[in-house]
Amino acid sequence: MAETSVAGGFARRKLLGILSSSWVAQCCYAVAKLGVPDLLADGPRSVDELAEVSGADPDALARLLRGMASIGLFRRTAPRTYALTSVTDCLRSDVPHSLRQMAVLDGEEVFRSFADILHTVRTGAPAFDMVYGEPFYDYLNGNHAVAATFADAMNANQVPKTLASCDLSGVGTLVDVGGGSGGLLAEVLTTYPLMRGVLLELPEAVRAAGKKLVEDGLAGRADLVEGSFFDGVPSGGDAYVLARVLHNWSDEKAMRILRHVRAAMRPGARLFVFEQLVPEEDSDPDAASGMVDLLMLVLLEGHDRTEEHYLRLLTDAGFALETVNHGNGPNADSAIVVVAA
Ligand SMILES: C[S@@+](CC[C@H](N)C(=O)[O-])C[C@H]1O[C@@H](n2cnc3c(N)ncnc32)[C@H](O)[C@@H]1O
Repeated sequence: MAETSVAGGFARRKLLGILSSSWVAQCCYAVAKLGVPDLLADGPRSVDELAEVSGADPDALARLLRGMASIGLFRRTAPRTYALTSVTDCLRSDVPHSLRQMAVLDGEEVFRSFADILHTVRTGAPAFDMVYGEPFYDYLNGNHAVAATFADAMNANQVPKTLASCDLSGVGTLVDVGGGSGGLLAEVLTTYPLMRGVLLELPEAVRAAGKKLVEDGLAGRADLVEGSFFDGVPSGGDAYVLARVLHNWSDEKAMRILRHVRAAMRPGARLFVFEQLVPEEDSDPDAASGMVDLLMLVLLEGHDRTEEHYLRLLTDAGFALETVNHGNGPNADSAIVVVAA
């Protein structure tokens, strides 16, 4: 009996923590949007100083930072004075793979979409489309500021670790389709000094990728192509990459992308698909597999897929399997390597 009530107490505390977790995420959003972590980059500052520079109400900001300090997100160093912790340091915009714009995207478009998750669960349709009146990527197309936030948020993505297990020696030109902000292309071009790169992306991502490639001294070895993979894909590559692209889309749209990639490839060229693979349908979900899939459902028309599901799509689009390098650990991407059949 005593054990049951201890367990019950733990369950209640755990649930109460979960129910308030969106408050905490929105607090991270608020400080990120105000630029507070950047203002604390050189050390502790007083709330009044932070409020003045960021345009916040001093007493409200004091209560926000005090609340966040109570759960380890800031450190109080003197009365009304705070410093970053290692967690909120990741919200500075000048750290590698900064999470600042991810916090902004999560706190605005993603948060508002999840507020209407019931619509998605009742209809199967993305809540995003109902809330914003159009699909996610169409909305980005008409909103340069949000598209820029999204492109920078994608910069937070680490390059898939399985990239290191892919042998790209002998590849003269690699085409990264939907290559985001250029992180993967920059890493490949650095590893293979004789290779050239092409990145196909929407305009704001092309801008972010251009900046990244200039910073890394690689701009002269890459062509950035503004366009849509639903219209076509640059030809002439020895290897093609689709990293975390297909899970954004329905099977029908993923097939359209794959067919454009296949049409651009000469026989023998290889395609590297990087995606998280979910366990077989109806098996126990592992910790990593469930929530990103849910994000794809609420925001987009996509979903995470099993290995078998990807292989079926790839075969139907005219590819033959070479190998699958499985990712290790939570949220790890696997690499599915196929050749143009
Ligand atoms: C989830 S992100 C992955 C980005 C990158 N490959 C990575 O691994 O970080 C999907 C990318 O697809 C791009 N995208 C969406 N629709 C597109 C289209 N019609 N044509 C080209 N790129 C598109 C987005 O801009 C976004 O950068």
